[in-house]
Amino acid sequence: MQRAPFRWQDAWVPNRTQVGIVGAGPAGLTLALLLHQAGIGCAVVETGTRDYVENRVRAGLLEQNTVDVLRQVGAAARLEREGLDHTGVYLRFQGRQFHVDMLRLTGRKITIYGQQEVVKDEIAALLERGVPIHFEVQDTAVHDFESEHPRIIYRTRDGDDADLHCDFIAGCDGFHGVCRPSIPPDELGVRELVYPFSWLGILAEAPPSTDELIYAWHENGFALHSMRSPTVSRLYLQVPNDTSLEDWPDDRIWEELERRIGRVNTGPISDKGITPLRSFVCEPMQYGRLFLAGDAAHIVPPTGAKGLNLAVNDVRILGSALRRYYEHGSTEALDGYSTVAVRRVWRAQDFSNYMTQLLHDLGDGAFGRQLQLARLQYLGRSEAAATSLAENYVGLPAEPEF
Ligand code: FAD
Ligand code: DHB
Repeated sequence: MQRAPFRWQDAWVPNRTQVGIVGAGPAGLTLALLLHQAGIGCAVVETGTRDYVENRVRAGLLEQNTVDVLRQVGAAARLEREGLDHTGVYLRFQGRQFHVDMLRLTGRKITIYGQQEVVKDEIAALLERGVPIHFEVQDTAVHDFESEHPRIIYRTRDGDDADLHCDFIAGCDGFHGVCRPSIPPDELGVRELVYPFSWLGILAEAPPSTDELIYAWHENGFALHSMRSPTVSRLYLQVPNDTSLEDWPDDRIWEELERRIGRVNTGPISDKGITPLRSFVCEPMQYGRLFLAGDAAHIVPPTGAKGLNLAVNDVRILGSALRRYYEHGSTEALDGYSTVAVRRVWRAQDFSNYMTQLLHDLGDGAFGRQLQLARLQYLGRSEAAATSLAENYVGLPAEPEF
């Protein structure tokens, strides 16, 4: 592979790099690994402490496409040892459940491996390879991305003002970051759907009471039984938007999980959080020399387990476009980044919305609930319907970058 030319300023001047990356979540870290592999200089700035980003409990379900990228950048050794292969899911309603055999229907499987474990592995790989990650920065701002000389300014952990000059900025700073709001609002189209419910998620020291994930429809609302290891369960409940963690003592959580899912092994709860459900896309995912990736550009409701997988797909495409630029001097692939990336975003939006509408109490009354049951029964009887769900769930094969 042709390497980007070596440049003294990237190697020796601490405030200059080729690609400045804002955010050390899965999008920013995976991009840094892809760029480093291609010989492109980069640096990451992150507001959280290393401990915070490595221990924030969130996603857990990785598509084969995502595992392939992590393997490609050499950050999958532990995932291959500890990740749990799953070949299907259960859909449960009215006290019975049926198995959707993803592997038989699609030839593909998924892997359960906590997002925070991905983040730990990626940070370790980057630091080992000498890629700088500046944790605990404050007051990050992105400037001059309409010019050829963009800059990221921030205050370091030690309180010094820093000014990182780069060729491009990757805004990987999540939904509440600073990059998207820095783009003039009339240059972006935003499409958004906010759902009238949230998820309460727990991590518990309890052996999973199921061999595959259970997605449960219930009169009281949706519930999901997932897992992290043979001794740790990850469980979710649909809850109203105006609820707070104080309303949910552990006993109430276990009772409600048991009501919606059936028998569930209990144990000490090590993490509890509430996430509102939202669908959001901003287009184009780029402006000048600022490129948005992951949750900075889009949010999906978690029912389809697509957020992290989309973040990795975005940076796979962005990384490849940046490599083209540094290898051939052509901006064509970079110019097309948003057009290519957003296709999969909308596919995932549709599937995540479909899964959400299929399984949650949408508050639309008895007619809507009966339609959901009719759809679930159809999925249990029709191989065509189950195959459609399965191929979206495991993730359609990754599109060529360009
Ligand atoms: P983030 O992970 O949000 O990372 C952004 C980073 O930027 C953060 O570390 C933040 O601290 C940093 N940052 C923010 N502002 C600044 C700033 N101004 N300066 C510097 N740094 C900044 N997805 C799946 O694919 N599968 C699942 O099973 C799944 N389940 C989920 C379950 C739940 C309960 C939730 C909440 C989400 C789930 N997701 C799932 C979604 C997934 O967690 C997100 O889509 C994923 O974290 C997106 O990664 P990201 O790197 O784009 O953003
Ligand atoms: C997990 C989260 C999801 O949103 C999902 O759909 C499946 C699994 C998890 O955290 O394991």
